[in-house]
Order: sequence, then C-alpha cells, then structure tokens
Amino acid sequence: MATELPTTDIRISTEAIRRRKGGTPIVCLTAYTYPIARLLDDHVDLLLVGDSVAMVLHGHKTTLGASLEMMIAHGQAVMRGSARACVVVDMPAGTYEDSAAQAVASARRMIDETGCQAVKLEGGVDMARQIAAIVAAGIPVMGHIGLLPQSVEKDGGYKIKGRTEKAVATLVRDALAVEGAGAFSVVIEGTIETVAADITRRIAIPTIGIGASGDCDGQILVIDDMVGLTVDRVPKFVKEYADLRSVVSHAAERYAAEVRSRTFPGPGHVFSATKRGDDA
Ligand code: KIV
Repeated sequence: MATELPTTDIRISTEAIRRRKGGTPIVCLTAYTYPIARLLDDHVDLLLVGDSVAMVLHGHKTTLGASLEMMIAHGQAVMRGSARACVVVDMPAGTYEDSAAQAVASARRMIDETGCQAVKLEGGVDMARQIAAIVAAGIPVMGHIGLLPQSVEKDGGYKIKGRTEKAVATLVRDALAVEGAGAFSVVIEGTIETVAADITRRIAIPTIGIGASGDCDGQILVIDDMVGLTVDRVPKFVKEYADLRSVVSHAAERYAAEVRSRTFPGPGHVFSATKRGDDA
C-alpha cells in the first residue's frame, strides 16, 4: 500500500543519482499518473514520466503522439503523487531537435510547470549541443541512446543497435557525447548486451538499461509492462512481475454479472434514510 506522502522535501537529487555510478543498482520505472506515483514512490530511486505515455495511456501507435502539454500534465500528476523519487520528464519529439534555444525553452517550461528534477531527451552526438545548452541553463538532463523510440518511423521499426562494428562505434561516440555535454545519466535502450556493458565501463555517469545489460548502473521498465497491464505487444526484454490484465478483466467480468443479476449494489453500497448525518 502507498504510505502517506511526507510533508518535507526529501527527494533524491540528480546529483545523488550521478554519485550512484558503480554502486547499488539504480531502480527506475516509468509513471504517468498520481496513483501509480503514490504506489511506486517508496520503492524506486527515479520515476520517469516517459513519452511512452502516448502509447501506453493514450493509445497512439508511437511516442510521436506525445506533446509538451501532455508531458506537462502527466509530470504534474506524478509530482503530486511522489515525494521521494527523483522525477524526470521526457521531452517529446519536435520540442528540442531544431536548436539549442528551442531545447532550452521547452526544458524550462517543463521544469517551471511541473517542478520535476530533470528532463530526458533522445540522441547522442547529434543532440550534444542541445544537452549542453539545457545543462548550462541549470537544468539537469538525462540522455537516451541506442534504440530511440522517437526515431522508429525513420529507422523503419524497433531495431536492436550494436550488431556491427560501425554501429558499436556510433553507440560509443553517442555515449561519450552525452557524457561530455554534461548529462547526469543516460538511458541505453535496445542494444547488444556486451555493448551496453562496455559503455557502462567507459563513461563516468550512470547508465540506465532497458533491453540493454544487467551490468548497467540501473534498470528501467515501463510500469504497465512490468505489472502485466500492457494489452498490445510486450517487448522481449520485459519481465512481468504481475498479471494485472487478468485481475482487471476478472473484476470487470464479476462486476458485469452482478449488475445484470441486480446483486450489485447490495445493502452496504446504498444509503438508507434511517441513518442520521452524512454516512458516505
Ligand atoms: O518513454 C519511455 O518510457 C522511455 C523509457 C522506455 C526509457 O523513454
């Protein structure tokens, strides 16, 4: 059960995450809503309001369905539901790629309107200028390299990275560029295992793996995948720790049967005129 939210600000800082390099693995999950943030806050170090929200909660085909407004609304909900975890919000496609000025303006809006600790954006060498500019503006940045969901249409699908020597060299260059630009950590997604492990040894900031390597400094999964609530394709790298699809569908089945048989609502779920006062 979710515990009461502490009233004091004891959030894990991005600096504390950076210092965890090589230490106890950093536990990260995505969160998009207030109740899920309440439930996860005690258990994780970092909550990512990922642009996967566009697919997971809004039913878009790709993360390109996310907008700045959508990310801000979900960022606010997750901030209201958490008090301890470091909260990072994704910059959606189309809000940072054009220029450093565009990236800083979008990141500033994200921080000002949600109160989150940091932003995340996808890209390596090609986005180093944007990362450096946001960091120079005083906003911590989490990088994201490897399989980039915002580029799946351009890439022709979800393709694992690092299968050739050239692809490995590109990944290493990207990791070094993100580190050099001042990011406090970097997500490595969908790569050959040994490449992610090698990058983790080569850079001084924590790597957060998803479909990457157990040697990364931390791991992240999409919350709906982790609890078995995903109704579409579940990626190979996901481990389902619960089966909420069955829980929800069995609950709906029982509810429907009870409504149809007039078993629900029963005497305990209606208000009788004999009681005094508000007994809601
Ligand atoms: O949007 C997202 O959920 C992500 C994670 C998969 C890392 O970027």
